[in-house]
Amino acid sequence: MSEATTPLMGQYRKLKGELPPGTLLFFRLGDFYEMFYDDAIEASRLLDLTLTKRQQVPMCGVPHHAAELYLAKLIKAGKKVAISEQMEEPSAGKGLVRRDVVRIVTPGTVLEEQVLDAHLHNYLAGLCCADGVFGLAMLDLSTGEFWIEQFTSAAALGDALARGAPSECVVPESLRENAELAALFPAGGPTLLSVREDWTFEPDFVADLLLRHFKVYSLDGFGCAGQQLAVRAAGAVLHYVTDELRRNASHVRALHVKTSADFLVIDEGTVAHLDLVPTRSAAAGAPTLLGVLDKTVTPMGGRLLRDWLLRPLARRAAIVARQDTIEALTRDRALLHDLTAQLAEIRDLERVIARLGVGGGNARELQALARSLAALPGLRALLAAQPAGGLLAENAGAITPLPELVDLISRAIVDEPPLAIKEGGMIRRGYHPELDELLTLATAGRQWLADFQAREQERTGIKSLKVRHNNIFGYYIEITKSNLAATPTDYIRKQTMVNAERFITPELKEYENKIVGAQDRATALEYELFVQVRDAAVLQTAAIQRSAAAIAQLDVLGALAERALALGYVRPRITEGDAILIRDGRHPVVEQLAEAERFVPNDVLLDGTANQLIIITGPNMAGKSTYIRQVALLVVMAQMGAFIPAAEAEIGVVDRVFTRVGASDDLARGRSTFMVEMQETANILHNATAKSLIVLDEIGRGTSTFDGISIAWAVAEHLHNQVKAKTLFATHYHELTDLALTLRGVKNYNVLVRESGDRIAFLRRIVPGAADKSYGIHVARLAGLPDGVIGRAKEILANLEEGEFGDQGQPKLARPRKGKAGDSKNQLAFF
Ligand SMILES: Nc1ncnc2c1ncn2[C@@H]1O[C@H](COP(=O)(O)OP(=O)(O)OP(=O)(O)O)[C@@H](O)[C@H]1O
Ligand SMILES: [Mg+2]
Repeated sequence: MSEATTPLMGQYRKLKGELPPGTLLFFRLGDFYEMFYDDAIEASRLLDLTLTKRQQVPMCGVPHHAAELYLAKLIKAGKKVAISEQMEEPSAGKGLVRRDVVRIVTPGTVLEEQVLDAHLHNYLAGLCCADGVFGLAMLDLSTGEFWIEQFTSAAALGDALARGAPSECVVPESLRENAELAALFPAGGPTLLSVREDWTFEPDFVADLLLRHFKVYSLDGFGCAGQQLAVRAAGAVLHYVTDELRRNASHVRALHVKTSADFLVIDEGTVAHLDLVPTRSAAAGAPTLLGVLDKTVTPMGGRLLRDWLLRPLARRAAIVARQDTIEALTRDRALLHDLTAQLAEIRDLERVIARLGVGGGNARELQALARSLAALPGLRALLAAQPAGGLLAENAGAITPLPELVDLISRAIVDEPPLAIKEGGMIRRGYHPELDELLTLATAGRQWLADFQAREQERTGIKSLKVRHNNIFGYYIEITKSNLAATPTDYIRKQTMVNAERFITPELKEYENKIVGAQDRATALEYELFVQVRDAAVLQTAAIQRSAAAIAQLDVLGALAERALALGYVRPRITEGDAILIRDGRHPVVEQLAEAERFVPNDVLLDGTANQLIIITGPNMAGKSTYIRQVALLVVMAQMGAFIPAAEAEIGVVDRVFTRVGASDDLARGRSTFMVEMQETANILHNATAKSLIVLDEIGRGTSTFDGISIAWAVAEHLHNQVKAKTLFATHYHELTDLALTLRGVKNYNVLVRESGDRIAFLRRIVPGAADKSYGIHVARLAGLPDGVIGRAKEILANLEEGEFGDQGQPKLARPRKGKAGDSKNQLAFF
């Protein structure tokens, strides 16, 4: 019988055949997980394992105790891995051991600590669309967070996907053909697409599944009315996890609905343009606003700060509530200090309870849970005196210390438990009398063996006589060949080796039964006791998740207060009016750059009337881009509820921030520089409202000057007349400053420079009025262009300023100023 047709391989192929396509199978064989055929070839490459062959079948394997590590590597490589186990103890004569797939791990559902980033959510997304409505569900199985949102455009959906950055997305089969959605998931992108049959998204099927999962009569309690498509996506996601992947999702306790109206909407491009958080395309380690603000001390806080940054608020009351709390913390530095110190004791409660809940946790995680929970009474006490109605009191109230659980865990689990849960060593002496007895017996047994060996050495006079153990026949006595003559007659021979013989005695075997039995029974009992304690913890999942959410908020508020104090931020006045008024504002990220010059603060005044559209001109390198981004950043920070780098500020809440900044090719999606620029501009014109803030940096730059000016002019007019959004517009087209002559809401500003001879000094001050010159050639000189080129550029500039053609119809552009005709002929070829 060849290997490929053995019953074992038949079993392998059956399990493999039931898996979703592309899933690697870890096939449990004794102490190893083996992989066969193509799985083996691929895994050996990804894991750097030796590929062997068992009768023509390619094979490789990983030891079961190190499986997590290998699993982590495969998941990071974007693979799905099914784990099969032996479902019964192997025993002689019983034939093939039953095996089954117990769970499938995918990038969007991984819980292993080695794969997860403590400061990032790991989302599994689900999509469902019909009639121009796009439903999105996002599940973070590692924390139990589950939320849905609906959109009316693919672009808005794309922004939400970019914010959440799911590692995997479940889509119905019929959507695979949808070009609009396909564009959201470029091939080779970071999101693994898991295509599922359409029926798993059907309304009736999904409703039934969700009601059963959440054990409720109706989803209305979650605020899901009118969220049909998002609910369908949510149901399909849950079905995928529990049914297809055979995973436990019992710690997923609620479904939250996100509504765009409550939040300041920031699109994907703006997140990148403003450097809010590190993005995949940005250089690693590039400075971001998150980098400046993140002084959180818990993983939950780190994740929440990121959420706050990408989803600032749009309702004044909610913003003010956060501000009040931050202000209270900045006023009471002792409280802030103690709060931070106490929070720092708390581990990743959300992920610990999630892992324990799905049966994956170990005794170390129980210990981490107990220690974190033990810090909670102190935290509550610290905040006990805070005024009711504020976020400090509210969050303190949501913290549930669970002292009985802490007590149980500390009594049951040793201080430094091992990682393994089936090898004993976890349970404290004194916790369970029967376990203590078994352990005493096991220890006594080991002593008895040592005594027995000494006794037999004495009796036989063989000094080298040893009592040893192997898995085949347990304990035995070994006597070397040279001493065989002295073997007593009551020894029973078991095995002959090259240099020695092995014996047993009835006494030895009798004792062995006791020892081995005691050790095994103790280990089994330890596991049972561990499971009991774990179950007791899992019963408290809801309370622990509530505490974790409160801790996350306290952590973020504390971090923002610390930043306010350390970096000299102030509390902006938040209004429902139209004005944005900032005195001495600073760019939060640029001002922190170590190598930068001293940062010069600037003011801004924007409103819905006379200062609605601001045109900023000024030399290259003067600081235009920095300034307009700074205004957008300060608004984002203010609406997060944070304090901002300024002397004082009044911020009328905006509904969306748009940016169109710089030129960026998007070769991956096959769009040219100018195409990207125009698409982003179109998005702004379609979606901005009178409540929006728009930052435009040199639009029209990517094409010919006249086309560019015309487009820029028309866009500015449209924004001023139709959209009426507050707009900052930096440009080198001085022609645009004439807009102020005809449009009431347009104001010109420029950035001051001091010119002395050939040199310019950048003053970084924004002042009213239009700039007169670009100083591009000055900056080119600063950048190190050769003197010859600079000189020639000056000539051409002078020609340009005079007009285009000479009397003979020759382009004046190329005319040499100081009579070097020959040169200019050669130059002509370039134009
Ligand atoms: N207010 C400021 N205080 C100190 N340094 C500043 C300030 N504003 C800008 N800078 C520095 O000046 C540099 C150039 O600024 P920025 O890119 O905003 O110029 P720009 O006017 O947009 O130039 P270009 O026209 O070439 O796009 C920045 O990298 C920054 O380090
Ligand atoms: Mg610029």
